[in-house]
Amino acid sequence: MIYHTPIMVEEVIHFFSSCAGGVFVDATCGEGGHSEAIVSRLAYERLLCIDRDKDILEVAKERLCHFPRVSFYHATFDQLPEVLKDAGVEGCDAILADLGVSMYHFTLHEKTKGRGLSLADEDGLDMRLDTRSGMTAAELLNTFSQKEIADILYTYGEEYDAYKIARAICHNRPLRTAAQLAKIVLRAKKSHGYHKIHPATKTFQALRIFLNKELEILESFLPSAADILHIHGRLAVISFHSLEDRVVKRSFQSLAKEGKVAILTQKPVVPSTEEMKRNRASRSAKLRVVERCV
Ligand SMILES: C[S@@+](CC[C@H](N)C(=O)[O-])C[C@H]1O[C@@H](n2cnc3c(N)ncnc32)[C@H](O)[C@@H]1O
Repeated sequence: MIYHTPIMVEEVIHFFSSCAGGVFVDATCGEGGHSEAIVSRLAYERLLCIDRDKDILEVAKERLCHFPRVSFYHATFDQLPEVLKDAGVEGCDAILADLGVSMYHFTLHEKTKGRGLSLADEDGLDMRLDTRSGMTAAELLNTFSQKEIADILYTYGEEYDAYKIARAICHNRPLRTAAQLAKIVLRAKKSHGYHKIHPATKTFQALRIFLNKELEILESFLPSAADILHIHGRLAVISFHSLEDRVVKRSFQSLAKEGKVAILTQKPVVPSTEEMKRNRASRSAKLRVVERCV
């Protein structure tokens, strides 16, 4: 089985080595790449793995089934206090959040077809990571006003052609598939020739972040995660775009100002040139780490 390649594993292990022997939380377990590195390379009392996507959590469960004291929770990471209560654990020593989505979500297979996270998906336009609640991308794009759609694309995707794209979306309603949306964006942006990233990438990112309330959940998670850490416990966050990184940076600064944590990464740690070459998806990653001090 080919798994998502975990990002900055060496750096994460380096920052978590002082937490060895304690309770670890992988708040965004995905297919379990970082989790596997943690349980293989560091001593641990427990590892709690959380993911809001039930299907990907099943992949991690199978991958990690040979490791003892690992448990899995289908939840969003802002539900960490409830997860700890359920696990019968008082606090923890290391928490990792590797934000966003996994290669698993971009690859079309039985479990992801129709979810609309891949630009090539011809079976649907959902974009929710947890399909139990919330609005789908199709519902949003077929009912929101042109201005509302443009605002979402601009705010959550930093898409400068947001207005043009929103107009094309409203003109081509009803939208039913992700592949159809990708084509509409491509035409609206009058994109020709070679692009480093697909012209619809920012549109997809914006809709996914908005629909899954990714920034709101992150904002409420960070202070509560810091509260849950034991003294000298560490919280590490890997972000992939400036909107996420801004939330992490500001939240860490305000926790440091309160005296609750010490910032261990004055500047974010980025992947080595070698890792960026080996794994292009790592190029925009930034790792920030804090340590609980009181
Ligand atoms: C970048 S992937 C993690 C990859 C993982 N570290 C690995 O090495 O395989 C991010 C994962 O976080 C999950 N996720 C995103 N937002 C979440 C949230 N608010 N709560 C819990 N899981 C979340 C996604 O479903 C996805 O599986």
